[in-house]
Amino acid sequence: MTEKERVYQQECAVQVREIMEIRARGPQPLASVHVFGCQQNVADAERMKGMLAEMGYGFTTDDEEADLILFNTCAVREHAEDRVFGNVGALKSIKRRHPTTLIALCGCMAQESHVAKKLKESYPFVGLVFGTHNVHRLPELLLDSLLHGRRVFACEDSAGEVHEGIPIHRDGTIRAWLPVMYGCNNFCTYCIVPYVRGRERSRTPDMVLAEAQDIVNNGFKDITLLGQNVNSYGKNLPEPVSFASLLKQTAEIPGDFWVRFMTSHPKDATQELFDAMASSDKICKHLHLPFQSGSDRILKKMNRHYDRAKYLELVKAARKAMPDISLTSDVIVGFPGETREDFEETLRLVKEVEFTSLYTFIYSPREGTPAAKMEDPISAAEKSAWFTELCKVQEEIAARRCAKMVGSTVKVLCEGRSEKGIVSGRTEGNLVITFPAEAEVVGHFAEVKITNARNWTLQGELVKVYQ
Ligand code: SAH
Ligand code: SF4
Ligand code: F3S
Repeated sequence: MTEKERVYQQECAVQVREIMEIRARGPQPLASVHVFGCQQNVADAERMKGMLAEMGYGFTTDDEEADLILFNTCAVREHAEDRVFGNVGALKSIKRRHPTTLIALCGCMAQESHVAKKLKESYPFVGLVFGTHNVHRLPELLLDSLLHGRRVFACEDSAGEVHEGIPIHRDGTIRAWLPVMYGCNNFCTYCIVPYVRGRERSRTPDMVLAEAQDIVNNGFKDITLLGQNVNSYGKNLPEPVSFASLLKQTAEIPGDFWVRFMTSHPKDATQELFDAMASSDKICKHLHLPFQSGSDRILKKMNRHYDRAKYLELVKAARKAMPDISLTSDVIVGFPGETREDFEETLRLVKEVEFTSLYTFIYSPREGTPAAKMEDPISAAEKSAWFTELCKVQEEIAARRCAKMVGSTVKVLCEGRSEKGIVSGRTEGNLVITFPAEAEVVGHFAEVKITNARNWTLQGELVKVYQ
C-alpha cells in the first residue's frame, strides 16, 4: 500500500468514526468478528480489528448487540463453506430485528466468483462483501456502505501487493501470529488456496523483524511465522533472503520467547532449514510437514513435486539434525482415483514416520480446481471407512508416543487455566499437557513432570515456573 493510499484509508476511517458515533446502537459502535479457516485468516482478522478499533469500534461476541457482524471465511473444503452459509443464513432474523446492523462477509470464500454471485442474488441482507485482496480497504468500503446505504462488493483480484502499515488488534496475549508471506504458487490440484489468495509475495525481513520485535515488546511468548509455503519465502524479494535466515534472525531478537512456523512444503524443505532450527533453543523443534498421500501415483496427480522416498528422506534428515523433533502433518483421504492400495501406502507411511499428530481430511472437490474434474469412482461411504481406519492408526501411535513420555520433565508455555484450576501448557513440539497450578503461571514458561497419559492427552505436575 502506498503512503497515499494509507492516508486515504485513514481519512475514510475518520469519517466512519464520525458517522458511527451518531449511528451506533449503544454508547460505542460494536463489531462481532467471526473467523473461520487457517491462521492466515486469524492474522487478517487481527488487522481488520486493528482498523475497526481505529474507527472507534469496540468488540463483542454477541451478534445481537453488534453494529457490524463480520465473517472472515474459509473455502478450503465444502464443509467450511456450508458452515459459513448456515451461520450467515441465521443472521437474517438479526437483520430483521436490527435493520441498521451491517452484515459483512470477507476472506477466501468472498474471493470465489460463484460465491460472490450467490451472495449477491440470494443473501440480500449481506451488505458488504470483500475478498482477501481488499482487506486493507476496509475503512473505504465501510464508508461507502454507510454513506450511500447500498450493498458494496469488492471481490476483484489485485496484482498481489503486500500491504504494510495496517494497525493490528491481537486477540491473545501469549501466542502471536506473524505472516511472513501471502499467497501460493503451487497449485496442488485439489486446492483452492492459490485461486483465493493469489500469487506468492513476501514481506521484507525488516517488516517481519519489526513486527516480531513489537510482539516480543508486548510480552508475547510464542510467535508463529505464517505462510502457505514458508520455504519459498524471500525468493522474489529485490534482495532475496531464505526463510532459514529469517527464522534465525527472528530467534536472535533478545527476550524469552519461542518461535515456530507453518507450513513447510516437502518439495522446498532444505537441510539449511533443519540446521537453522537446530541452531537456537528459541526455535521450536516442531515441523509441520504435510505429506498429503503416501502413494507416489496420487502425489503425482496432486502435483506435489515429491515422492514418498523424498518425504521419508526429509524426515530422516530432520530427525538427524534434531533427534527429539516433533513431526506433524496433513493428509487427504479419498483423492479422485485413490485405490485401496494407494490408501494402504498412506497407512504405511503414517506407521513408519510416527507423527506426533496428524490433521486428516476427506477429499472435498473445489470448483475450478483440476482435481474436481478427475474421475472419482470411490463411494463416500468407503472414503469415510478409510478415514476412520487412518484416524484409529494415528490415535494408537499418538497414545504410544504419549505413554513413553510419562515420567519425563518437559518445558511448556502455560497458555490458560480452567475454572477448576487446571492449567494447559504447550510444549515446543505442540503437545498440550494439563496440570493443576495457580493462575499466576499463565503466560510463563514452566517445567512440568508428566505423570499420566490418557490416550493421546497428557497430564502432569508443576516442577518449577520460570519468571
Ligand atoms: N499450504 C499448506 C496447506 C493449506 S490448506 C500446505 O501446502 O501444506 C490445509 C490442508 O487442507 C492441506 O494441507 C490439505 O491437507 C487440506 N486440503 C486442502 N484442500 C483440500 C481439499 N480440496 N479437500 C480436502 N482437504 C484439503
Ligand atoms: Fe494449497 Fe498446495 Fe498451496 Fe498448500 S502448497 S496452499 S496445499 S496449493
Ligand atoms: Fe481456508 Fe483461506 Fe486458509 S481457504 S485454509 S482460510 S487460506
